This record gives sequence, structure tokens and C-alpha cells, in this order.
Amino acid sequence: MSGAAKRSAAEAAVAAEVRSGMTVGLGSGSTAAFVVIAIGERLRDGRLRDVVGVPTSEATAVLARTHGIPLATLAERPRLAVCLDGADEIGPGLALTKGLGGALLREKVVAVAADRFVVVVDESKCVGRLGERAPLPVEVIRFAEPVCARLLAALGGDSTRRDGFTTDEGNVILDCRFDPIEDPDALATAISAIPGVAGHGLFVGMAAVAYVASATGVDVRVP
Ligand code: A5P
Repeated sequence: MSGAAKRSAAEAAVAAEVRSGMTVGLGSGSTAAFVVIAIGERLRDGRLRDVVGVPTSEATAVLARTHGIPLATLAERPRLAVCLDGADEIGPGLALTKGLGGALLREKVVAVAADRFVVVVDESKCVGRLGERAPLPVEVIRFAEPVCARLLAALGGDSTRRDGFTTDEGNVILDCRFDPIEDPDALATAISAIPGVAGHGLFVGMAAVAYVASATGVDVRVP
């Protein structure tokens, strides 16, 4: 799907969800980049004032500074009004997989710190069942990687280490193929229980709304 669709989803979401004075979680990835750009434009032309961003990755922090968005840490702003982010898949009930960009752990922390989590995608991300389109990234501490891979296999996940990649938290990522995911909630609970797992890309029961762009416009979906 084109950048134009991602941009139109991002602009619709920013127009509807971001107000002056808000602290806003800034997601990561190519769609979330359009969110950052749209907020920056609105701050420059005066449609928005006093917006502070909390970035979900070092890459997003750099982009946000480039576009003139003042930033804060979670220590400074532990509660956010809203967080806008992309996704790799969006399934029934607005359950998501995220993390192909590798920022899943910080993304989830910032999303739960926000009163409202807003998803911004193009329609190519929509699936009937999670796992159809993308692997599930699982962030693990280095020491635990072999054990995590074995225990993920026991849950049905065929994992591949993302070589040469280290997360902003210094961890590694195992990309897990499931066939596909029958019960996202149960799988999320089971993966979270594995010692050494720092985070995973299943975002279940978190999204309040999704802005889904297609060639014909932007569809606003709720769970
Ligand atoms: C980053 O870690 C991811 O969770 C992204 O939000 C996700 O991969 C979507 O990225 P794109 O908008 O680039 O497809």
C-alpha cells in the first residue's frame, strides 16, 4: 500500500485525536512517521499549541525533533492523553501485532501510559487472524534467548533471531511464525510468562480506535 494511504490515515487520526495542550505518545515506523509530520505541521501553522511528545523509539525522537515537536520522558510525563502508532497486523476486535520495526517494548509501555491508544494503518494490514501476514516479534534478554526460543516452540512458534539487530533496550528479537494465532489473548499471557521475555508484539484489548486508510478514504473502526 502506498505512502499516500499511510499519510491520509495519519492526517485523519491527528485531526480527530490530537488537541492543544495534550501529551502525545509518538509511535514508530513508516505510518507513525506521518503522524509525527502531521503534528509538526500543525504546531508550525498554529492549529496546535503546547503539544508535548513522548517518543517510542530513538528513531522517532530524532524525527520529532526534526519536525519541531517538544519531547518529554515518561519520568516527566508518566500519563499521556493519547498515543498514536502503526501496526503490522490488525485483526478482529482491533487486536494487533506490532514490532517489525523493533520498537515493540517501548511502544507498549507508551501505549499503556496513554488514556487512549489510537492505531493508524492502511488496509493492507487488516487480517482475519493475527499471524497470517507477519511473524510475531518477541523481545528477549540475550542470556535467555535459547530457552525462550525453545519455550516459544512449545507454544507453536517457529522463531528466527533477527540477526544484527539490537533494540533500544539492548535486547534481541525472535520473530515467531505461528500458524496462525487462534487465541491472541491466551498466547499473549503464555508468552509473557516465559522468563527472559521482555516484551512481545501482541497488543490485545488495547486499541480504542483504528484509522484504516484505503483508496476510497479513511475508515474509523472501534473494537
Ligand atoms: C515498530 O516497532 C512497529 O510496531 C510498527 O508500528 C509497525 O511495524 C508498523 O510499521 P509501518 O507503519 O512501517 O508498517
